Amino acid sequence: VKLIVHPGKPLSGTAAVPGDKSLSHRAVLFAALAEGESRIENFLVSGVTRVMLESLKALGVSWSLDGDVLTVHGVGLHGFQTPQAPLNCGNSATTIRLLAGAFAAEGCAVVLDGSDGLRRRPMNRIVEPLTRMGVPITATESGTAPLTMKQRDPDEYLRPLDEDLPVASAQVKSCLLLAALAAHGPSILREPGPSRDHTERMLGSMGVKIDREVLPDGQTYQTRLEPPQSPLKPIRLRLPGDFSSAAFLMVAATITPGSEVCIPGVGLNPTRTGLLDILNEMGADIQVLNEGIQAGEPVGDLLIRSASLKAGTVSGPLVVRMIDEFSVFGAAAAYADGITTVRDAKELRYKESDRISSLCEEMHRLNVPAVEAEDGFSITGGGRLGGSEPLQAHGDHRLAMTSVVCGLNANAPVQIEGAEMIQESFPEFIPSLQRLGADIQLVEAEP
Ligand code: S3P
Repeated sequence: VKLIVHPGKPLSGTAAVPGDKSLSHRAVLFAALAEGESRIENFLVSGVTRVMLESLKALGVSWSLDGDVLTVHGVGLHGFQTPQAPLNCGNSATTIRLLAGAFAAEGCAVVLDGSDGLRRRPMNRIVEPLTRMGVPITATESGTAPLTMKQRDPDEYLRPLDEDLPVASAQVKSCLLLAALAAHGPSILREPGPSRDHTERMLGSMGVKIDREVLPDGQTYQTRLEPPQSPLKPIRLRLPGDFSSAAFLMVAATITPGSEVCIPGVGLNPTRTGLLDILNEMGADIQVLNEGIQAGEPVGDLLIRSASLKAGTVSGPLVVRMIDEFSVFGAAAAYADGITTVRDAKELRYKESDRISSLCEEMHRLNVPAVEAEDGFSITGGGRLGGSEPLQAHGDHRLAMTSVVCGLNANAPVQIEGAEMIQESFPEFIPSLQRLGADIQLVEAEP
């Protein structure tokens, strides 16, 4: 799908964002592992959650979807049926890594696979610790999917973990915490940064004893889980809006002069809101209103008015707190006066695309000076954005949406190819921008 963004139209009004992607994945999977009926409102219905839902169906978990309300009939920690064929996790690393943890606990055999893009993502970070726990799992020689797990005696417990994880990754942590549900004693995981703690919050609400603390060095985050003595309790909750989807509208309204946009009911877990902090530091005008708690997570409304930005610097723990926001942060940097620098962000190379090189490549297409570093990038902003070549999505939903945002205040219309990727996480993104006033044209729909 190809889009043309005609710049210059201010954005105004209220736009809701879909339910949080990380929470949607966890809610449906944890509900499947519980015993009894769970009800999840504001579930994200999109490409990446579809593959999780279809995988669960293949395991004998029944669910039904009515709009964005998902009902799940949990089968318990030993209830998965052995699937007949490899499970296709599509482009979703959260699906493959969380399912690997769930299968480790359940003990049945499975092959977990996905798209070519998913097959490039590193899996030894889960395979090695799972192997230490006694899980019979293997990856390919290059440490990637497909992952093959053999049948395990369901009466044999796994070994508890006491691990220092080399990278702060909520996917790795969550995978291991799920496996730790089936260990014979408490597991402890330490990670070098504040990765999102949705798993801890949600499992805690389902009756699992799980604690998280920052160690005295101020940088190590430790999670301790005790295997539950009774089944996981089903959940009934309404998921907050996805901060990582709101991020695109936040930057869009900030860089488009004359804009004023409200986004209600956005998840504001502090492990996710790094972009809000850095944008306000760079001169953005983003207010948080009506703060509350929903589904065990902080939430609030965001009110964004356009503003001129000055360059900023991102490194250290802030990187972890905005790990999914660097593509759209690149758009903000392109419109900020001066040189914006990002460091300590090598993990970006292992996302849906290598987000350091793909972002810099698209910046060059827009005539924005951008320099790659091994663990980050620098972007010189404040010039005029534009170019004649269409921008490319690199098979990455967040890069496609970033290119759309870049076009909103460019010097000339901007074309984006591969925009169908947007369906992966934010299917209503283009219609939402159009309702706010953006002039975006669909020029070519592939059959
Ligand atoms: C996610 C964690 C992050 C993030 C991804 C979703 C999750 O990955 O990039 O989009 O739901 O746990 P890492 O934890 O591997 O950094």
